[in-house]
Amino acid sequence: MAKKFNVAVVGASGMVGGELLGLLESRRFPVGDFYPFNSGRKPASVRFHGKSYACLKPSFAALKQADMVFFVSTDEVSARFAPKLAAAGVWCIDDSSKFRLAAGVPLVIPEVNGGEIRPAKKLVAGPNCTLTGAAVALADIHRRLRVTELRLATYQAVSGAGKSAMLQLEEELKTYFKKGAVPEGSGRFPRPIAFNLFPQVGGFDRDGHSAEENKVEGELRKIWNAPGLKISSTAVRVPVLRGHSLAIWARTAKPWTLGALKKILARTPGLKFAADPYNYPAPLSHGNRTFVVYAGRLRKAKTAANEFQLWVVSDNLYKGAALNSMQIAERIAGF
Ligand SMILES: NC(=O)c1ccc[n+]([C@@H]2O[C@H](COP(=O)([O-])OP(=O)(O)OC[C@H]3O[C@@H](n4cnc5c(N)ncnc54)[C@H](OP(=O)(O)O)[C@@H]3O)[C@@H](O)[C@H]2O)c1
Repeated sequence: MAKKFNVAVVGASGMVGGELLGLLESRRFPVGDFYPFNSGRKPASVRFHGKSYACLKPSFAALKQADMVFFVSTDEVSARFAPKLAAAGVWCIDDSSKFRLAAGVPLVIPEVNGGEIRPAKKLVAGPNCTLTGAAVALADIHRRLRVTELRLATYQAVSGAGKSAMLQLEEELKTYFKKGAVPEGSGRFPRPIAFNLFPQVGGFDRDGHSAEENKVEGELRKIWNAPGLKISSTAVRVPVLRGHSLAIWARTAKPWTLGALKKILARTPGLKFAADPYNYPAPLSHGNRTFVVYAGRLRKAKTAANEFQLWVVSDNLYKGAALNSMQIAERIAGF
C-alpha cells in the first residue's frame, strides 16, 4: 500500500484551503490523519472525506504531528511555523509570499521546475497566482529561444484576494441591483469593484510599482532561473470572480516563425494552446476549476523584432494556488 501522509492544512476555512481539501479528496492523495487549522478567531469546521472536523488555532506541537503541512493562510503564520517545522523534518508547502524569494527555498511550478523539489529542502514555496500563467505558458519558448523582455497587463479576479474579497463583489452587486448605486469605498479594495476595475493590487513602492507587479517580476526570474530577464507589468483588479488573465508581450533573443512558436506552445507541458484566434480562452470558461493554463491569440507584435503577443488565462485558485500545491505534494509522495 502507498505510504500515507498525516496532513495539516493551515487556512482550511479559507478560499484556497477549501479548494485544497477538495483536491486532496478528488486526486486521492494518500492522507492518514488530517488536521485542519484556522485563525481560531471564530469557530469553523470543514468536511473532509465525509467527516466534519473542527478547525483549531495552529501551534508548533499540533502541526508537528503532520508529515506534510499546507500553509494557505498568511505570511505571518508561515513565518512563525514553516522554517521550524521544516527543520524538524516536516514537509511544508507554502502558498504565502513569505519565502518565495528566500535563498535556499525552492519556488516551484512542477511542470516548469519540479526538479527543484528535493528531500533535503523540506520547505517548498508555490508562486503568486498571477505569474503562474505566464511561467507555464512561456516556459518552453524561454528554454528554446530565451525570453529577454516581457511586458504584462494582468486582469485579476477578486478571489485572488481571498474569500472576503469575493463576498465584497457579490455584496456590491446586490446593493447595486437593490439601490441603483455601488457603495463607495467600503470593504476590502481601494475602490468599488462592481462594474469597475483599478490598476492596484497591493500597495505601491517608492517608484510607483505595486506589490503584485514586484512579485510577478522577482518570482518569474527565480522560477526560470533568469536573473537578467527584463519584466514590466501593470496589475489590474477586475470584477471577475475566478480566473486570472494576462496580456503578454514577449521578446526573445533568438528569431522564430509563428509556425515554430505554435509548435512549441502546442507541446508545452501544462498548457492548452488554441491556434484559432477566435478560440481564445476567457476566465468564466477556462479559469474555473481547470487544471491547465490556456493560451490563445498568438501574433507577431508590431513594436519590435522577435516580439510576439499572447493571451493567457488560468485558474488562480487551482493552478495559481491549491492545484500547484497539490502537484508539489504528489511529487513529494513519489519520492
Ligand atoms: N486566493 C488566491 O488566488 C491565492 C493564490 C495564490 C496564493 N494565495 C495565498 O494563499 C493564502 C490564503 O489565501 P486565501 O485566498 O485562501 O485567503 P482567505 O480566503 O482569506 O483565507 C485565509 C485563511 O487563513 C486563515 N488564517 C488567517 N489568519 C490565521 C492565523 N493567524 N492562523 C491560522 N490561520 C489563519 C483564515 O482563517 P479564518 O477563517 O479563521 O479567518 C482562513 O482559513 C494567502 O497566503 C495567499 O497569499 C492565494
